[in-house]
Amino acid sequence: MAQLNVNGTVLNFEAEDDTPLLWVLREQLGLTGTKYGCGIAQCGACTVHIDGEAVRSCSLPVSAVEGKAITTIEGLAQNGVLHKVQKAWIDNDVPQCGYCQCGMIMAVAALLKEKPKPTDADIDTSITNICRCGTFQQVREAIHMAAASA
Ligand code: FES
Ligand code: FES
Repeated sequence: MAQLNVNGTVLNFEAEDDTPLLWVLREQLGLTGTKYGCGIAQCGACTVHIDGEAVRSCSLPVSAVEGKAITTIEGLAQNGVLHKVQKAWIDNDVPQCGYCQCGMIMAVAALLKEKPKPTDADIDTSITNICRCGTFQQVREAIHMAAASA
């Protein structure tokens, strides 16, 4: 039995050291907001925060994150208040099918922490998540809205 610190809570799990973090989150801890897309760190659907940085959890062995602070989409809102990225997503009607959006939001939240007012070039460089519904323009507008909000 091993432990992970997820969304501020210490949780027990049992898995081989090389099991991807994504599978522990989804299958053992029931945190299914984090999605499986490609499994090879290309699409970003599985993005979570490890010690505040955006990481693709499908390609990260769970043994690499024991003792680190993991945040998933379920832990992004604080005390019942949505994160400013979540609010901007709602205000801009960003999601279509929604499948990629949790990973997209986590990637954007990490970007805004590092660069509170990102340029379009910053967004192009940092937000490489793939959206099969083509929400990229709405994503960009929502990022700028979130950056402009308090
Ligand atoms: S499922 Fe992890 S990057 Fe695609
Ligand atoms: S909203 Fe459907 S894949 Fe992005």
